Amino acid sequence: MALLQKKPEQPQVDFSRLPRHIAIIMDGNGRWARQRGLPRTAGHAAGAETFRTIATYCKDIGLEYLTVYAFSTENWKRPAEEVSAIMGLLKKYLLEAIDRMERDRVKMAFFGDLSPLAPELRALCQRTAEISRHYDGCQVNICLNYGGRDEIVRAARAFALDCMEGRADPNHLTQEQFGGYLYSAGVPDPDLVIRPSGELRLSNFLPWQSAYAEFYFTDVLWPDFTKGELLRAIAAYQGRSRRFGGV
Ligand code: FPP
Repeated sequence: MALLQKKPEQPQVDFSRLPRHIAIIMDGNGRWARQRGLPRTAGHAAGAETFRTIATYCKDIGLEYLTVYAFSTENWKRPAEEVSAIMGLLKKYLLEAIDRMERDRVKMAFFGDLSPLAPELRALCQRTAEISRHYDGCQVNICLNYGGRDEIVRAARAFALDCMEGRADPNHLTQEQFGGYLYSAGVPDPDLVIRPSGELRLSNFLPWQSAYAEFYFTDVLWPDFTKGELLRAIAAYQGRSRRFGGV
C-alpha cells in the first residue's frame, strides 16, 4: 500500500501586510551537495538557482527589499576552488541581471567591501548598481565580502574622520545618523531574517540592522528552499506581535 504523504499546509499570507524587508542567510549549500555525493560547488550552483527563484518571486509579490548573504568576510578561508566557484556564480548572475534589468526594474545594491574582488567582478557590481540606481522595483542587496562587525568599525572610522574634519559632532550623534555610515544607509532595517539549514545563529549578518527583526529558522537547506517556504516564513512573521520594546 502506498504511504499517504501529508501535504504541508498552504501558508496563509496576507499580501497587503508583507514585511518591507526580508534578509536571508543562504545556508546549507555544502550539506545539500554532500547528501548527493556532489562537490560543494554543485551546492552553491543549486543555491544560486534558488536565489534566482526567490528574488524573482519577491519582486513578483511586491516585496520592497531583499538582502542576501552571498559571501562573508570570513568565507575567504574556504578552499580557493570554492571561493572562485562562488565568485563565478555571482558573475554569471550579474551578467544575466544586466540583460534583464530594463524589464525587471530590480534595483541592485551591494553591502560589503568590494575592493578585494577581481576587477572584472567589482566592475560588474558597480555597473549593475549604477544602471539600476533609479529603479523603483524591489531592491536586492547582495552582501559580498560583508561582515557586520567590519561594517560597524568602518562606519565608526568614517564618523571619526568626519568629526576630525569638522563635518560631524560626536556629542550629537544619533542612531539614525550612525546608520547613514553603514553599507545599508537609506535602507529600512530588515523586518524578517530567515536562516535555513537548521543553524540557529546570526553569523555576523546585519547585527546593527537586525536589532528588532523577527527571526525564522528552518531545517530546509537553502538549495531546497521554495516559494512555499518563503510564504511559511512570512506567515510566521505575520503571526508575531512586534512591540519594539513597548507593550
Ligand atoms: C553558505 O552555505 C553559502 C555560501 C557561503 C555561499 C552562498 C552563495 C550562493 C548561494 C551562490 C552565489 C550567490 C548569488 C547571489 C548568485 P555553506 O557552504 O556554508 O553550506 P554548509 O553549511 O552546508 O557547508
